[in-house]
Amino acid sequence: MVVNKSSATGDVGGGEMVVLGSTPGDYHGVDVGAVVPPIDHLLQVAGGGDTGNKGRVLVEGFPVLEPPSDEEAAAERRAQVAALLASFGHHLRERTAHHLGYPYNLDFDFSPLTQFQSFSINNLGDPFIESNYGVHSRQFEVAVLDWFARLWELKQDEYWGYITNCGTEGNLHGLLVGRELFPDGIMYASHESHYSVFKAARMYRVECVKIDTLVSGEMDCADFKSKLLMNPGCPAIVNVNIGTTVKGAIDDLDKIIRILEKCGFRDRFYIHCDGALAGLMMPFIKQAPKVTFEKPIGSVSISGHKFMGCPVPCGVVITRLAHVKVLSTDIEYLSSRDTTIMGSRNGHAPIFLWYTLNKKGYRGFRKEVRKCLRNAHYLANRLREEGVSASLNMLSSTVVFERPRDVAFVHKWQLACEGSIAHVVVMPNVSVEKLDGFVEELVANRSCWYDGKGHDIPCVAKDIGQDNCLCSLHNTKHKNVEEL
Ligand SMILES: Cc1ncc(COP(=O)(O)O)c(C=O)c1O
Repeated sequence: MVVNKSSATGDVGGGEMVVLGSTPGDYHGVDVGAVVPPIDHLLQVAGGGDTGNKGRVLVEGFPVLEPPSDEEAAAERRAQVAALLASFGHHLRERTAHHLGYPYNLDFDFSPLTQFQSFSINNLGDPFIESNYGVHSRQFEVAVLDWFARLWELKQDEYWGYITNCGTEGNLHGLLVGRELFPDGIMYASHESHYSVFKAARMYRVECVKIDTLVSGEMDCADFKSKLLMNPGCPAIVNVNIGTTVKGAIDDLDKIIRILEKCGFRDRFYIHCDGALAGLMMPFIKQAPKVTFEKPIGSVSISGHKFMGCPVPCGVVITRLAHVKVLSTDIEYLSSRDTTIMGSRNGHAPIFLWYTLNKKGYRGFRKEVRKCLRNAHYLANRLREEGVSASLNMLSSTVVFERPRDVAFVHKWQLACEGSIAHVVVMPNVSVEKLDGFVEELVANRSCWYDGKGHDIPCVAKDIGQDNCLCSLHNTKHKNVEEL
């Protein structure tokens, strides 16, 4: 562990940064342990202390060294690099095996595509226009976009879209289209929306009104209506969550549209649907509300590396062809149009997505969605049986529960935490056996944290509702037993 006083990461409030990882000396010796921060170091750092880092664990890179000119030393260096890479592979396998907190499907096999790693595939420019740069994969990209346009019911000659670098870029694009159509619009988004939505508002300098949420995490439509009516003269740019980040809640798209129309916003609103994870799950659940361009929505985006699974971050955004014309500019240098947020675009991602769609198809996705929902219910029930407060929205595979007390436990399972709660996102690679192992370990640790008495069990009623809270105040079963 070293202490680094530089301000490389910018967001640490200017305090001392505690940095974990290898030191230059480690590299020469290829310290395998340096790849994985030891837990005792982690614990020292996680408390934050006076570092101003609020428990963030900072990273130090493996140093880049000038290759030695002497052949013998160069051979030794190559062997060290190979050993370091091998240990890094080991680290990734271990981290993959203990991952539960983020919505990434880690189960995929793209070995037939490794042949493309030796190409610099770049889809810069508009996906539908051939660019002068020939090493692209537009044939795959356009086919993937066609698939998504069909899924969300937008005709082939009426849609436009592209494969983005991530869900964030999809949000940035969708909301930009909204801003370009309504330059004097106000953005509305529930406060449980992903941070990229608020980033878009800041980037585009659009006023953003935050809407309250229900305890489920869903947008509170009564609050939406009252805030909308405070600005009757300004068009509305609305971010609708098809699965919130923390609770997997689905905003009520139909109700939001009804409110907009009833409040006099007909033809003066733009809806972007942020479906990062659940945008690809909802179409395969019968009871789920339908996301479709047959409704007056402007754009939908998903992350490609979430439910689908992909070795590189990516995403998809689909909008109406008529809308995208407002932000396209001809670029002679590319022999194309500038319609995307980024310039160069990852040309490998479309091939991964195309391969997965061909391999799984609708039937495959439906099966995986069912498995995830089933396993998520299994986890929520197991936690409750063990006395752990937990909640699960009906159409979601995100199980929310009381935040584990121990930072080493959180780190081991890579749990995403916010305030008093944490969550596990049950993805296709998460088996019942893995969930059993997780629950058993949580229960064993928890009996030490709370001394087996249950007195200090935190109340999470305000986060997940009284009915889901098993603290001594809200757990009626517990209370009744004590009262007897
Ligand atoms: C609801 C929601 N929107 C957008 C994003 C951003 O996606 P990405 O990480 O692919 O940029 C996330 C990520 O978790 C999310 O949960």
